[in-house]
Amino acid sequence: MNTQSLIDVARKMVADDRGLLAMDESTSTCNKRFAGSGIPQTEEARRAYRELIVTTPGLGESISGAILYDETIRQQTKDGTPFVKVITDAGIIPGIKVDIGAKDMAGHPGERITEGLDGLRARLKEYFQMGARFAKWRAVFALGDGIPSRGCIEANAQALARYAALCQEAGLVPVVEPEVLMDGGHTLERCRAVTEDVLWTVFNQLYTQRVAMEALILKPNMVLPGSTCPDQGTVDEVADATVRCLLRAVPAAVPGITFLSGGQSAQLASARLNAMNVRFRSRLPWALSFSFGRAIQQPALEIWHGDRSRASAAQQALAHRARCNRAARRGDYNETMEKT
Ligand code: 13P
Repeated sequence: MNTQSLIDVARKMVADDRGLLAMDESTSTCNKRFAGSGIPQTEEARRAYRELIVTTPGLGESISGAILYDETIRQQTKDGTPFVKVITDAGIIPGIKVDIGAKDMAGHPGERITEGLDGLRARLKEYFQMGARFAKWRAVFALGDGIPSRGCIEANAQALARYAALCQEAGLVPVVEPEVLMDGGHTLERCRAVTEDVLWTVFNQLYTQRVAMEALILKPNMVLPGSTCPDQGTVDEVADATVRCLLRAVPAAVPGITFLSGGQSAQLASARLNAMNVRFRSRLPWALSFSFGRAIQQPALEIWHGDRSRASAAQQALAHRARCNRAARRGDYNETMEKT
């Protein structure tokens, strides 16, 4: 492992106010999104959609890295150019999702444990050879009566840390994604307390497993009230609760924090990231950036609808969201951007 080159990649992933684009939906998740929009759930439709994304003009101005899925990293454009080459030529670093999903956890009803450690060393080696320079692993924590439990938090945190150590050994920057889900009626304060507990546990495990903090990216949830909580809080309240939580639990050596969007609307995700940077940017030790999936892709997917003649309009919507989020990193995003 060459730690300096890992640190260089990690820094590049959050440099120049750019952020990550998550386009690593598993086949079943991608099919679910397609079904929701009446798009055929075929390998060719998934390939065509991912081609639309990676060939979006100007994408590299706002996007520093793209997270791919195993199927996607092996695919090519219609004219035979590998997606990895298209991405790299656009100035975007290729990344890869390497967990194999969150499965029901034994003895822990309602909770899930993320799998994928068996054979991971060999898979990471292959992905590195294919051009990937960072990887992603997602753990999920549902909030409810008595959950998340210690058992669930600790097992997932240890898996994240073991994955991160293997990534750094293989020359890939680990994107460590512990996601506290927004489903439910819990308050903003409950989400803050659970997120803080999860992050403390994750960083304790990362330390125990000898992961270099300078060479990883944290991909957390924003601290949000549950989606059915009557008090949704203001944009500034969410920004304050999120940054306060991160300041307590995330070491200053970590170069960047790139939020997942988790089901927030595209505009709200941009507005909340913007508020964090407006209010705190000058006194934060790490870059506060984005690694959105739905909050970047959803408007484009709705326009595209599987129709080739709408590809260019969909690409414009995608580039627009990427630009809005880049502006949010600088604290320059505002609603008038949505009207242009
Ligand atoms: P969302 O932004 O849609 O939550 O996706 C991000 C992601 O990578 C989930 O693992």
